[in-house]
Amino acid sequence: MSIIPESSIEEIRSIVDIVDVVGEYVQLKKRSSNFVGLCPFHSEKTPSFNVNPRLGIFKCFGCGEGGDVFSFVSRMESLSFPEAVRVLSDRVGVVLPEEEVPGDEASEGESIYHALRFAARFFHGRLAKDPAAQTARDYLQNRGFTRESAKKFGIGYAPDEWDSLLTEASEQHVAVDFLEKAGLVIARKEETGYYDRYRHRLIFPIFSHVGKVIGFGGRILREDDQPKYINSPETKVYSKGRILYGLYQSKNAIRGKEEAILVEGYTDVVSLHQAGVQNVVASSGTALTKDQIGALSRYCKVIILLYDADSAGLRAALRGIDLILEEGLIPYAVRLPDGEDPDSYVQQNGAAAFEAFLRDHRQNFIQFVLANAKAAGRMDSPEGIASVQRTILQSVARISDPLNREAYLRSAAVSLDIPDNDLRPIVDAYRRGEKHSRRVPIKSAQAVKESSKGEADVDFDLPAISEKPHLAEKKLLRLMLEDGAEMIEWVMSRMALTDFTGGPSREFATELVKQYSENRFNRTSFLSPATPSSIRLLAAEVMTTTDEPSDNWGKKLILVPRLDEDAIKSAASSMRYLKKHRLDQQIEKVRMQVMRAQETGADPRELQMKLSKLYQLGKHIESGRFLTDSIE
Ligand code: UTP
Ligand code: MN
Repeated sequence: MSIIPESSIEEIRSIVDIVDVVGEYVQLKKRSSNFVGLCPFHSEKTPSFNVNPRLGIFKCFGCGEGGDVFSFVSRMESLSFPEAVRVLSDRVGVVLPEEEVPGDEASEGESIYHALRFAARFFHGRLAKDPAAQTARDYLQNRGFTRESAKKFGIGYAPDEWDSLLTEASEQHVAVDFLEKAGLVIARKEETGYYDRYRHRLIFPIFSHVGKVIGFGGRILREDDQPKYINSPETKVYSKGRILYGLYQSKNAIRGKEEAILVEGYTDVVSLHQAGVQNVVASSGTALTKDQIGALSRYCKVIILLYDADSAGLRAALRGIDLILEEGLIPYAVRLPDGEDPDSYVQQNGAAAFEAFLRDHRQNFIQFVLANAKAAGRMDSPEGIASVQRTILQSVARISDPLNREAYLRSAAVSLDIPDNDLRPIVDAYRRGEKHSRRVPIKSAQAVKESSKGEADVDFDLPAISEKPHLAEKKLLRLMLEDGAEMIEWVMSRMALTDFTGGPSREFATELVKQYSENRFNRTSFLSPATPSSIRLLAAEVMTTTDEPSDNWGKKLILVPRLDEDAIKSAASSMRYLKKHRLDQQIEKVRMQVMRAQETGADPRELQMKLSKLYQLGKHIESGRFLTDSIE
């Protein structure tokens, strides 16, 4: 890892406008010398998130998050500190030393990124200026793609030669070795040397969600060329199943609309963007994967699948729906009119019609499965009906969030015309059946927060005053620190970060989850001087705590531990206590609101409903069922 000099960091800090950066994620209003908005790190209805441009810091008085522009970007995008610095350096055009030309000590990954960036510039430049790219320019124009779109998506042209990229690379001192590792050139079989992978193709660069070029898709420009698209092979930095095309350009719109539209093709994404529908990504012609859903879960909860009427499209949509449910998000399916794809539809009818179509034709998964079963004649026999019912109830059982699950269970009861009380035991049985076979993934801090939506749904504003960490949570932190990855997974798949007291305690938990999900859990890092002092001090305290001396501590520093029953029990009881404690605070707050409503003659019914939901949740917690239900 290269070290970024302090002077560069300071230079970036002095140029970058924190209000600008935060403003891309949060709607900010000016209030005296500060800007305020709704905190992106916890759910709230009244703004307690402040940005101070003079000091260059942000601070949320609701959840206690705070820091400078680098920590904002790193939290928002789940990036390490150096990665956040890089993102911001690109933004303000500060060149970081080792980026000029990767030297010997630059990592292989960086050299590959360098080669990819070089190639993207080369292709894009050719599209703009090369006389030989006229076919490509005409093609884009005939399809109605504008120059701005080409620019926004970095579209390019690969010349109709075997070595144009190779030649340019050698002039620019980009090593062929890294071109090969980036998937841009192919070694000749019979002789020595290489040749360009992309020839006479329209080039769609594929960006990571932070805007680095990681691969390419190259479309034919001659109808008889094969295959239609040539995509990057799997490389060190590109893995087809992990990325979504367009996420970088779409993520802010996705966050804003709180839903993502999933399409198939590169051109669909570009075309929709151009028309003004910007919350759209493409799975690039492959089946949707868990990782892709995980990537989206950082920005939204709802995914709208657009699918073709053909049987392959249908099957893919069905699979996608199950996966989305399993990952704790909410799927909808929309079938476009026969013979249309998103690109053709939006070009003909415009963005407003496209959005209206999605609104009017979206089916939740129950409607979707039922409609398709009917159309396929699978509802014509009792066995057929039973099997469709089973499919639907199994999907309901996959919903990890209890309130959501209940809502869908009721919707299923209506659609299937079976009393919900009869369905509940079936769904419960499916859940018990799954429990042992399924591990609960932790994706990222943000995802954990998102998937603890059961609580967010009943409006978990956090207590405004930050308190001291409770003994119970210190115990949990200690257990996670001691036992490492497995314990972190066990605890954090059952807890929301917001269950931890705002401030050092939650920061500590956030850091644990971050290290866990980046697969780099390192116990000693919590004591290192690079760690913020608040976390470091708490870590030191937690490690030395004597409330329940752990004789495992010494040996666990060396061994890779497995979870033992006592540790689990101890964690479970701390968790129950904490969850209950948070809930009680919430109940107290709503009770006050009810009283106030009654005093002022306002209608307290909505509040009372909320209260009864909270009580239900309390029972759920007390029963300890949250320990076996995958995610609370
Ligand atoms: P489509 O054939 O629908 O292409 O494949 P498209 O993107 O809509 O392109 P146009 O509109 O016909 O020009 C959908 C996606 O499937 C992947 C690509 O990601 C493409 O965008 N695909 C398709 C491939 O990877 N390879 C292929 O040979 C074909
Ligand atoms: Mn198309």
